[in-house]
Amino acid sequence: MSERRKDPVTGTETTGHEWDGIEELNNPLPRWWLWCFYGTIAWGLIYVILFPAWPLINSATGGILGWSTRASVAEDIAAVDAQHAERFAALTELDPAEIPGHPELSGFALNAGAAVFRTNCSQCHGSGAAGAKGYPNLLDDDWLWGGTMEEITYTIRHGIRNEDDPDARYSEMPAFGEILSGDEIATLVTHVQSLPEGTDPLAGEGGTLYDENCSSCHGLDAKGDPALGAPNLTDAIWLYGGSDDALTETITNARYGVMPPWVERLGEGEVRAVAAYVYSLGGGVSEEAAAAGQ
Ligand code: HEC
Ligand code: HEC
Repeated sequence: MSERRKDPVTGTETTGHEWDGIEELNNPLPRWWLWCFYGTIAWGLIYVILFPAWPLINSATGGILGWSTRASVAEDIAAVDAQHAERFAALTELDPAEIPGHPELSGFALNAGAAVFRTNCSQCHGSGAAGAKGYPNLLDDDWLWGGTMEEITYTIRHGIRNEDDPDARYSEMPAFGEILSGDEIATLVTHVQSLPEGTDPLAGEGGTLYDENCSSCHGLDAKGDPALGAPNLTDAIWLYGGSDDALTETITNARYGVMPPWVERLGEGEVRAVAAYVYSLGGGVSEEAAAAGQ
């Protein structure tokens, strides 16, 4: 340490530091700077008292305001949920057929429904809803159980052939392996394969077998029956396949497609939203068109 001395020009004490003859003056800190400095200390103290600050082993001191980023995120989520709850409630109050007529609400339903679909439906119906063997394509206008908003909503709400919901859609095709001979089944396979080309469903030997065994469910015109979930056999759209093997298997042992019910799991609001989404995918049938088709 060199000795302190006064600078002869300004009369200010020096700090004793000197570089090449230039000495540092020991001026007091500017007042504004000092006040800012004390201000930051006060701010720090107040902050530590009010907010979470000192890290502990598993958490941090809480602060008397009880604020946390987690609680603040939860609050934001609750606010969004409350807004959604209002819209889901509005969806639930409408007649399903009216939802497409409310642009703002149906916009919300489509977004919410797409999210519900990705989470709950895509594992069976495919992420693009195009289906797979045994799982119907929801993009086309070929409906097993009907394609109006009302019918789609019902199908989703209660499911199909499940044991969890007493209101599930239900029907059962008999296993014709126990009823008809192998030859008769082979004749029916060929007959069913000829239907999409425009053969009369009741013509010939196959037609007689069809009339006696199949027309009660699939219809005299073989166009199916949405009340029974019996597929249209004339449209070349196959749920289980149109090859010899697939048709022989279907007619011999029958099929039993099961879909779970959703209303308990999702609530009526989300059921309406996902129904609106499915309806919008391209195959939705308006009430008027459905009435005209009957
Ligand atoms: C475990 C598989 C599975 C899941 C998950 C599933 N489905 Fe299905 N779904 C099926 C099967 C199988 C059928 C056809 C049943 C039949 O043969 O009649 C079906 C039929 C349908 C139909 C009727 C189609 C028609 O042509 O009438 C609709 C609509 C539908 N599902 C919508 C949904 C929606 C929406 C979800 C999600 C909330 C969903 N499904 C989840 C298996 C599933
Ligand atoms: C009691 C009503 C009923 C009768 C009778 C019936 N079916 Fe079916 N059939 C159904 C139902 C319901 C399905 C759909 C099963 C499913 O989705 O799991 C079906 C499905 C089919 C399919 C599958 C279609 C596809 O898209 O893959 C074929 C083919 C078929 N039936 C042919 C026949 C033939 C041929 C007969 C007569 C020998 C017959 N059915 C009699 C109700 C019936």
